[in-house]
Amino acid sequence: MKKKLLSVLLAGVMVLSLAACGGGGSSSSSSDGGDGGEKAESNGKKVGVAMPTQSSERWIKDGDNMKKQLEALGYKVDLQYAEDDIPTQTSQLETMIAQGVDCLVIAAIDSGALVNVLDQAKQANIPVIAYDRLLMDTDAVSYYASFDNEGVGRKIGEYIETKADLANASEPQTIEFFMGSPDDNNAVLLHKGVMSVLEKYLKDGKLVCKSGRTSFEDTCILRWSQETAQQNCENYLTGFYADEDLDIACSAFDGFAYGIKAALEGAGYKEDNWPLITGQDAEVMAVKNIIEGKQTQTIFKDTGLLAEKCVTMVQAVVEGGEPEINDTETYDNHKLVVPSYLCEPVSLDKDNYKELVIDSGYYTEEDIEKAE
Ligand code: BGC
Repeated sequence: MKKKLLSVLLAGVMVLSLAACGGGGSSSSSSDGGDGGEKAESNGKKVGVAMPTQSSERWIKDGDNMKKQLEALGYKVDLQYAEDDIPTQTSQLETMIAQGVDCLVIAAIDSGALVNVLDQAKQANIPVIAYDRLLMDTDAVSYYASFDNEGVGRKIGEYIETKADLANASEPQTIEFFMGSPDDNNAVLLHKGVMSVLEKYLKDGKLVCKSGRTSFEDTCILRWSQETAQQNCENYLTGFYADEDLDIACSAFDGFAYGIKAALEGAGYKEDNWPLITGQDAEVMAVKNIIEGKQTQTIFKDTGLLAEKCVTMVQAVVEGGEPEINDTETYDNHKLVVPSYLCEPVSLDKDNYKELVIDSGYYTEEDIEKAE
């Protein structure tokens, strides 16, 4: 409580001091290909932002938000995407370190693959912030900004529990699982959250997983690949669902839901036997599919808010001060428990999408219509 009050006061002081220096001396502050937004402060400091891939919409939004918000404070930003290639991400980070950036913000492709390059950052006294994905096995990370990742899984599980009315169901319902990448700590936590709700129904027979694949090891999908999700779903449908429909696809990612949708269409599923399909990220395509009944639910993660929290961490490590932290226990990366700010994930379906993503201005109706 006290900490919160302090951070509100600090934020107030910052706004005042930023306003005070906003008018003068900002001309030297430049951004690499920035959109020329108003510079509140000309500190000339540079932040390297390393994002995993542009193949999924959420990371594009994350990168855009980080760049915009940092540039608005007068930081220079080097934003790089590595298209899910670990050596590319490593060499992007090496370049940023060689450039002498003042801070690194990293959403890792493989959370444990950056130990050496992070060591270089540490030796060069460059502070590191883990963005959405925890950086594992390193003590070179100062803070972590993310969502409550186990909470994401719990919300997916609870949605299935309620929607399929598992507590009262008299007939068993079939379910298959499509979990995230084994090199992403978020994926492990998500599975834990899902199982904290659904395990008891698998045990008492209200849920039946005909493939028998329910563990994280058996259901994880490397690099969150949509193609692998589609392939897995096709295999499940032909191998186990020739005589009985699949009722529930517990998917950890909107990209998986697209692959599952394609597999179901290929297997002849129609409106009357279309399963309940979950997802994560509230991508614009997923929202469109939800409106059209081809996906049932997703998890809305407000990337603007995440960027805001991460920017306060950048300010703290670069300018000094304490960022807002709300978790100091959960995110143990095997070297330290990383002080974290966890944003709240929200379950989205056709009943609340308008309020969550349209009324809030996150998307326009047109964005959704145009999605493909
Ligand atoms: C993120 C998810 C995202 C997934 C695939 C995870 O680390 O937390 O929001 O869906 O990566 O990109």
